[in-house]
Amino acid sequence: MPPLGRRRVLLLSSAAATVLAAGVAVVGTAEAASTLGASAAQTGRYFGAAIAAGKLGDSTYSRILTTEFNSVTPENEMKWDATEPNQNQFNYSGGDRILNQGISMGAKVRGHALLWHQQQPGWAQSMSGTALRNAAINHVTQVATHYRGKIYAWDVVNEAFADGGSGGRRDSNLQRTGNDWIEAAFRAARAADPNAKLCYNDYNTDGVNAKSTGVLNMVKDFKARGVPIDCVGFQSHLGTGIPGDYQANLQRFADAGVDVQITELDVAQGSNQANVYASVTKACMAVSRCTGITVWGIRDSDSWRTGENPLLFDNSGNKKAAYTSVLNALNAGGTNNPPPSSPSSPPPNPGTGACSASVTLNSWNGGYVANVRVTAGSAAVNGWTVSLTIPSGGAVTSTWSATNSGTSGAVSFRNVSYNGQIPAGGNTEFGFQGTGTGPTATPSCQAS
Ligand code: XIL
Repeated sequence: MPPLGRRRVLLLSSAAATVLAAGVAVVGTAEAASTLGASAAQTGRYFGAAIAAGKLGDSTYSRILTTEFNSVTPENEMKWDATEPNQNQFNYSGGDRILNQGISMGAKVRGHALLWHQQQPGWAQSMSGTALRNAAINHVTQVATHYRGKIYAWDVVNEAFADGGSGGRRDSNLQRTGNDWIEAAFRAARAADPNAKLCYNDYNTDGVNAKSTGVLNMVKDFKARGVPIDCVGFQSHLGTGIPGDYQANLQRFADAGVDVQITELDVAQGSNQANVYASVTKACMAVSRCTGITVWGIRDSDSWRTGENPLLFDNSGNKKAAYTSVLNALNAGGTNNPPPSSPSSPPPNPGTGACSASVTLNSWNGGYVANVRVTAGSAAVNGWTVSLTIPSGGAVTSTWSATNSGTSGAVSFRNVSYNGQIPAGGNTEFGFQGTGTGPTATPSCQAS
């Protein structure tokens, strides 16, 4: 092997030749890296693993983890049943172990998952309606606040779309609280942790099909109405093949203005396993907004797909052929992923317009949730304050997507950083929860 300096020169000149021949921007990197995380980092991406707190004491497991990966996802520790086993009693012990493991490695931490129809605590499973909606939003707010500033991306909502050809939502206790439960969750997550990327995550959305199109339509609707969403996760629990339009599917989401991530990759063992892994990796590398890949476990023996041997390391921790195919695909380079930026905000506008506000209430005996829509007039607004009167005897107990001054009597709500600007004729929403009876009069709105 030639000395390092000589190798660099050779590789750089062949990369330059590629650029000249193809007439394209930077493709590939100068030096092959020898671990998954380091290789992914060369194009600004991460390569992660789902990990379990109970396995961190296994020396083979933790050696592979710390050597190969630069992102971690808690396999179960941040799910609702783990973090809020009793209503309003939060337990972050397992989640914090994963977080601290990630921090100690200098890795990204993906939060998984704030709301999901599975792995709900028993108390939530037996709830419905407004009580469940309030409990769910409170859960999002509390957990995202606990981890505020530490999480790279949250799976805010997991698996909310139905399988099959409908392209619609899955029935669940959460869905039955109203179709807007997903946007309420995203708004609450943004208010609690403005720096985390907020993702929608699902399976069987890995190619162009009715389910992924349903998710894409939701993303476009959220973008059009100013509901905060930054990324979509594709679980990619694959069998022995990969949809032919896998990359095209990622690209159509990227084109809609969100990052895309492969969030739970595992591939059934078979003669094609290494090829499928390579195809997934190449697809991500070819989509500039594909920010990283996570495999759902480390060794085959760690996998939730018992007996399918779907991971990159065998039971003894040896690298499999699939490992080599992934590393080669990462080292072959791809479009550069831009450095992480904070969630984008619209460009400044003159903001001379007026605004109006309306309130809808979800009330129960002794409390309510108010949803307030703020609408710009014929000119854009740059910021807004909504004022209303809380009926005597009651008080505001929590607010999302706005900041309140006062909790009883005359209360005003000011926009937060990401929802102050509303285009002409557009609207945004915020909410608050209160005790007593909710305000019924039309609120006043002041643009500024
Ligand atoms: C799985 C875990 O791997 C298992 O340990 C647990 O028993 C069930 O959940 N989609 C998801 C993940 O979003 O949270 C699931 O993880 C796998 C399917």
